[in-house]
Amino acid sequence: MSLIFRPLFEKESSTYTYLLADSITKEAIIIDAVAETQQRDIGLIEELALDLRYIIETHVHADHITSSCPLKQKFTNAKIVLGESNPVACADILIKDGENLEFGNYSIKAMSTPGHTDGCMSYVVGDKVFTGDALLIRSCGRCDFQGGSAEKLFDSISRLFTLPDETYVYPAHDYGGRTVSSIWEEKAFNEMIGGVDKAEFVRRVNAMELSLPAKIHVAVPANQVCGSKIVTD
Ligand SMILES: [Fe+2]
Repeated sequence: MSLIFRPLFEKESSTYTYLLADSITKEAIIIDAVAETQQRDIGLIEELALDLRYIIETHVHADHITSSCPLKQKFTNAKIVLGESNPVACADILIKDGENLEFGNYSIKAMSTPGHTDGCMSYVVGDKVFTGDALLIRSCGRCDFQGGSAEKLFDSISRLFTLPDETYVYPAHDYGGRTVSSIWEEKAFNEMIGGVDKAEFVRRVNAMELSLPAKIHVAVPANQVCGSKIVTD
């Protein structure tokens, strides 16, 4: 038995999509799939003859449109999964903190990590954690829209830091080409939270000066229907 693990990248939004599968049973999951790269992802799933079971989102994204709905139309065994705090009618499963989903002999465990948005979930598979935009490599997600809270994000990252130090960290984005980190590296070197208290972290997050994502007014409404249509107003 071995785990098939394929990190994938969408360059316009610098988003990582992760495909994981049991190599024996072929049952598979995909995390944070993107509309622009759906044909690539469908092609890979078909080439590897995978049985896609779960289409998982770490959160309702503001910077890109998901391909959840098109993937579900293609792979009809699959269910769309979002964290329970997301009021999204298109989800088949609103997963709760601590719940597991099985794929073959593997399982993925939901870990509630709000703060970037109020509905953010991280997911643990063995020695890997998929942190969405809660914990980024040497950074963290912004907290200035979609119910964001720097105070909650501090608590969420502190919770992620209770995972074993050697756990690999796979974020939803990286803007500098890095692909993986680890819990110990982020404890030591994360430029937002490494070695600072909550008050200082909140000050740093609130001092971020970022323009709104270019696609936010399109992406958020589209993602609330799992990418089934693009809302343009
Ligand atoms: Fe995000």
